[in-house]
Amino acid sequence: MSLFNVYPLNPIAITKAAGSRVWDDKGQEYLDMYGGHAVISIGHTQPHWVKRIEDQLQAIAFYSNSVVMPIQEELATALNEISGKKDFQLFLCNSGAEANENALKLASFHTGRKKVVSFTKAFHGRTSLAVAATDNLSIIAPVNETDNIIFLPFNDIAALQKCFAEQGTSIAAVIIEGIQGVAGIYVADDAFLQAIRKCCDDFGAVYIADSVQCGYGRSGQFFAHDHAGVSADIYSMAKGMGNGFPIGGILIAPHIQAKFGMLGTTFGGNPLACAAALAVIEVMQQGHLIKAAEEKGHYLINALNNTEGVKSVRGRGLMIGFEMEAGLEDLRKVLLNDLKIFTGEAKPNVIRLLPSLAISMADINLFLTGLNKAIQVLKQKKD
Ligand SMILES: Cc1ncc(COP(=O)(O)O)c(C=O)c1O
Repeated sequence: MSLFNVYPLNPIAITKAAGSRVWDDKGQEYLDMYGGHAVISIGHTQPHWVKRIEDQLQAIAFYSNSVVMPIQEELATALNEISGKKDFQLFLCNSGAEANENALKLASFHTGRKKVVSFTKAFHGRTSLAVAATDNLSIIAPVNETDNIIFLPFNDIAALQKCFAEQGTSIAAVIIEGIQGVAGIYVADDAFLQAIRKCCDDFGAVYIADSVQCGYGRSGQFFAHDHAGVSADIYSMAKGMGNGFPIGGILIAPHIQAKFGMLGTTFGGNPLACAAALAVIEVMQQGHLIKAAEEKGHYLINALNNTEGVKSVRGRGLMIGFEMEAGLEDLRKVLLNDLKIFTGEAKPNVIRLLPSLAISMADINLFLTGLNKAIQVLKQKKD
């Protein structure tokens, strides 16, 4: 049987990983500046994370959500503490799309309304409502098309206020990434997030902070939305939450009330996933990784701004996108094939950096040296 061919693949089989390094099946080492698409938060095969999962596996891997699970409560308490969202409630699921799907559904249950505001270039996942709120026609199947989503220009306060003035009483939720990831790293303006908060307050709508990619400390704050000094009503989380173990969740403000049967899942919140998520938080706290993301991000952004061939740099913390000058379109390929460095991309000409928050300064400098070399190689080819 063949695999369903939906991914354009690099012909590299990764068989081993540690920290910010991965190795292929031939023993070739690579520097991972991509973090498996922003998933690796504390480093590949981090020893405490491995041990926590192994210990849990020996005790119990799974039971359904029909019994009390103290480890879920332990995770909720740890999340309250690390996120600073003290009285928020936790619902656990398995992925980012599922987290957004549940957030949107919950907002609709809570308000009794149908309309959702989303923004240009947004990516919220591939399940039915999440994909409908995603601004990419090529991934929306006919069955997912709906009139319930209103797309507005990103960072446009006037358009947001006009929309609320005209139809605010039918809007259930506004969903927004604190930093748009798939779009190519576009930071939501603080004033824009504050305006969303105000519109939602004025019209009784739910502010959903999609923090699947920009959350979990990556931006230098636990949630990228925190930079704006506002609190959302629901935060969706996944990627960095399990450091590669599949887990997602939503943090829900105390004024939103649960009802039996409103949301549900078979696998969400299983003990193994909770153990992985707890290990991530413990390692983050012990290593002060959110502060590290902020500091290393500053260093990297500053260095990129001073790199010849780099046209512009966007992002916060260790969620960075940089655009290259014309003629350097093959940079990502050269970085991977010649310098053995994994990076992420965003069309048309943006390189995304989403490394582990535990990446060392030595590895950051190794990347910068590699980048300069790759740019020289391409410039020489051009001349
Ligand atoms: C902002 C954002 N939301 C949601 C998702 C979907 O997450 P998942 O692929 O885990 O379903 C992604 C994935 O890239 C994302 O970047």
